[in-house]
Amino acid sequence: MAKVKTRIGNDFCPQALFLYGTRQEDGKPHFGLFCWFGYYHSAEGLGVMACIGEEKQTKDLIRKNGVFSANLVSEPLLPLADYYGCTYGRTAPDKMKVLPTVAQGEVLDVPTIAESPVSFELEVKQTLPMGDGSDIFLCLIRNVTIEEKLLDKMVPFTERLMQAAPVLAPGEDTYSSIDGRYLGKWGEPGNTIK
Ligand SMILES: Cc1cc2nc3c(=O)[nH]c(=O)nc-3n(C[C@H](O)[C@H](O)[C@H](O)COP(=O)(O)O)c2cc1C
Repeated sequence: MAKVKTRIGNDFCPQALFLYGTRQEDGKPHFGLFCWFGYYHSAEGLGVMACIGEEKQTKDLIRKNGVFSANLVSEPLLPLADYYGCTYGRTAPDKMKVLPTVAQGEVLDVPTIAESPVSFELEVKQTLPMGDGSDIFLCLIRNVTIEEKLLDKMVPFTERLMQAAPVLAPGEDTYSSIDGRYLGKWGEPGNTIK
């Protein structure tokens, strides 16, 4: 089968989705939805590369606090995650009117999401401004919490992965389950929240 040149993009290269948790000035939690997320390794340990585009409340709070959480989006969390991804915090002061079960980070002062199967507590080590309003945050993973049942090695890993039910962004602005089910277009699942 021939390959053809196409527009620059990453369709067919699925990305996991994360809700970034930050603390606002008054201590209340704030969440935004993100997919430009990858990993790196350094002598200090495993790190995360998080790219945040234009200015937004999540970026304001990451810059101010130097720490945030990244919570894996699972299928039950998708409606809320999509709502957080389509609501611009700077102009929607009541964005956090709907909240998940918020937990306190174990190592860093960050809000995490109890319903999320995997939460990272992240400390920003370096910020790379790309010069066009986009910034890449290089962060050290200071703590990982994971749903207890996912650590049961008596259950095959693939089965536990299905139980975690992470939501993927595989391309063309769609959401998909880890076993390939279509879960809607960006902006659709969150309509049940508004
Ligand atoms: C599926 C999805 C993935 C997103 N991924 C990113 C991302 O990786 N980087 C980014 O800057 N914005 C991303 N966004 C947009 C932010 O979620 C959006 O700007 C949101 O308003 C951020 O919350 P805040 O305004 O409260 O900070 C994504 C949105 C959706 C729907």
